[in-house]
Amino acid sequence: MTTTACINPATRPTSVAHAVEAHNVAADYAGILALDQVNLDIQVGRFTAIIGPNGAGKSTLLKLLTGTKRPLCGYLRVCGLPIAEARKANAVAYVPQETAIDWDYPITVQDVVLSGRYGHSRIEGGFRRFLPPAFIGHRHREIAQRAMQAMQIEDLAQRPIGALSGGQKKRVFLARSLAQEPRIMLLDEPLAGVDRRSEGIILEHLKRFVAAGQTVIMVTHDLPTVRDCADWVVLISGTVVGVGEPDEMLTPEALERGYHRGERTPA
Ligand SMILES: Nc1ncnc2c1ncn2[C@@H]1O[C@H](COP(=O)(O)OP(=O)(O)O)[C@@H](O)[C@H]1O
Ligand SMILES: [Mg+2]
Repeated sequence: MTTTACINPATRPTSVAHAVEAHNVAADYAGILALDQVNLDIQVGRFTAIIGPNGAGKSTLLKLLTGTKRPLCGYLRVCGLPIAEARKANAVAYVPQETAIDWDYPITVQDVVLSGRYGHSRIEGGFRRFLPPAFIGHRHREIAQRAMQAMQIEDLAQRPIGALSGGQKKRVFLARSLAQEPRIMLLDEPLAGVDRRSEGIILEHLKRFVAAGQTVIMVTHDLPTVRDCADWVVLISGTVVGVGEPDEMLTPEALERGYHRGERTPA
């Protein structure tokens, strides 16, 4: 794909009924399109699975929703807000794909989880917002502690993140996201390379998050888990090629639409 029919739609009325609204969104890397003409509405309260072949643009879509990547064009809202505002409001938590993290970075488990509170601590009033993160308030430490308990990683609090197993690392990032108290959790392959115990803990808390009325958007290749946990499936292959309930989307015919081309390579 090297061309796009980008239409920048006029400002549309926003709706908090939607966790995500994307209209005619495109994204590129150095002029090569990774996503084109993406049209997608995801309702608040969905447990959404994003599926599709390697190179389909799944990670790119999450990067657009976190604001770490800018769209080439199109209309994009999260919780009815432009991406920058949603970020400021701490509405979006993000668990990146394993390969996107530098595991040699010298930071403890506790500090990673506590970093989920930095956004909140910055927007509260008073002198504390001018202090460095090490002086973060007691309330924030308590919330981070509860998130570590939920992910059963309290015993690992002082360990460097790089010293953990794959499943433990994922639980640390899940704890960081829980500590952030977001409205939407974006997770890029959170179950890849994860042991069964970690998988159980992660999925249980994602289900609770959704039961509390929030939204999960999870990229995964694990179709049995999609069947078990998700109530909404988005199939991506350079664009959105299908959206619907798992029963409708996990049929051989529907999957064929996204996967028949195999791995996508840039045009
Ligand atoms: N940093 C990057 N620089 C250049 N091309 C990239 C970069 N990240 C992703 N791409 C390309 O964008 C396309 C979509 O990638 P990605 O969103 O990572 O796919 P997925 O997560 O579905 O496997 C692929 O063709 C990939 O090679
Ligand atoms: Mg990816």
